[in-house]
Amino acid sequence: MKHFKIGIFAGDGIGPEIMREGCRVLELVGTRNNVNFELVEGAFGAHAYFSEGDCFPEATKAICDSADAILKGPIGLSHEESKKIPVDQQPERGALLPMRRRLNTYANFRPVYLPKSLAHFSPLKPEVIGEGIDMIMVRELVGGLYFGKKEVGVNADGKRYVVEALEYDEDQIRNILVEAFKISQRRKKVLHNIHKSNVLKSSVLWNEIVEEVKVDYPDVEVRHMLVDAAATALCLNPTQFDVMVMENMFGDILSDQGGGILGSLGLMPSACIGPDRAYYEPSHGSAPDIAGQNIANPYSMIGSVAMMLEYSFDMTAEANNIWHALQAVFDDGYSTADLSKPGAGVNMIATNEFGDKVLEKLAAMPVV
Ligand code: IPM
Ligand code: MG
Repeated sequence: MKHFKIGIFAGDGIGPEIMREGCRVLELVGTRNNVNFELVEGAFGAHAYFSEGDCFPEATKAICDSADAILKGPIGLSHEESKKIPVDQQPERGALLPMRRRLNTYANFRPVYLPKSLAHFSPLKPEVIGEGIDMIMVRELVGGLYFGKKEVGVNADGKRYVVEALEYDEDQIRNILVEAFKISQRRKKVLHNIHKSNVLKSSVLWNEIVEEVKVDYPDVEVRHMLVDAAATALCLNPTQFDVMVMENMFGDILSDQGGGILGSLGLMPSACIGPDRAYYEPSHGSAPDIAGQNIANPYSMIGSVAMMLEYSFDMTAEANNIWHALQAVFDDGYSTADLSKPGAGVNMIATNEFGDKVLEKLAAMPVV
């Protein structure tokens, strides 16, 4: 029997609720496929800071280093609550970025997917959505502004100032571009390169590397787009995109916009892949305002499980079963509160009920 050790970091806010559903799906997948998933829980995030004085405790780091993959929930507190934790120890800076660096998960894949049948979830008009939205954003995840040098101080005029550097070397840029070209080759072979080379020197270098890398992928058509224009294009003509590649902060912002055009960030799973290690997480935050109410959408977490099966465990057929199960629940007219606008004819169900329905659908599908 195959055995995989999976780190389970539920995180903060709605994290534990949606993680519960993700783990139930993993358990069913294990039973169906005769695979032993050993789930090992790790404290990670603000709750770990309050209980253990560290939002990324040593025991959790040890799980990171020994697990075959990690499933991680969202972390973080509300703006006001965050102030209870010193700035550098807040979970985003104190846990998540250090974990990304530790695992060197430089490639972040964020699918933005909405079939035509679910166009009513989106704030965009059906004619804009056309045959459906189906793209994947490829975000560089361990470089750029989020990991560059930082300096905070008081200048000669007595004014407080800050400097944050957007740093990349050519290898970092090449590595993420190669991932984007490879995934583009497996899809529609149209790659949008998102940049800001009219202002940023980092984008000038980035685009130079695009020219170098594309020689190895002659079947992929590269289209260049400024990041600000891309923000508009995502609203006006999202179906032109298949694969988009961009640096860390651009990807952070545009992927949230991706959730926006789908109708909910709850529809945004993701995979964070490094040369040796990988972890999987919803792209969204911990939504403290709705935590503990059993109303959060577990799609992003269950979708992250599907991505784990595909990317880490070579179980693509079962991953596809999970995607189909998720869609089937929506197609039956059910959804969680985020996608149940009044009058839209959607039957609103709770987080655990959504999980129940996904399990039912999955259990009814043949194991390939
Ligand atoms: C994301 C999140 C993180 C990021 C935060 C929580 C640090 O917004 O994964 O998109 O900015 O990368
Ligand atoms: Mg983000």
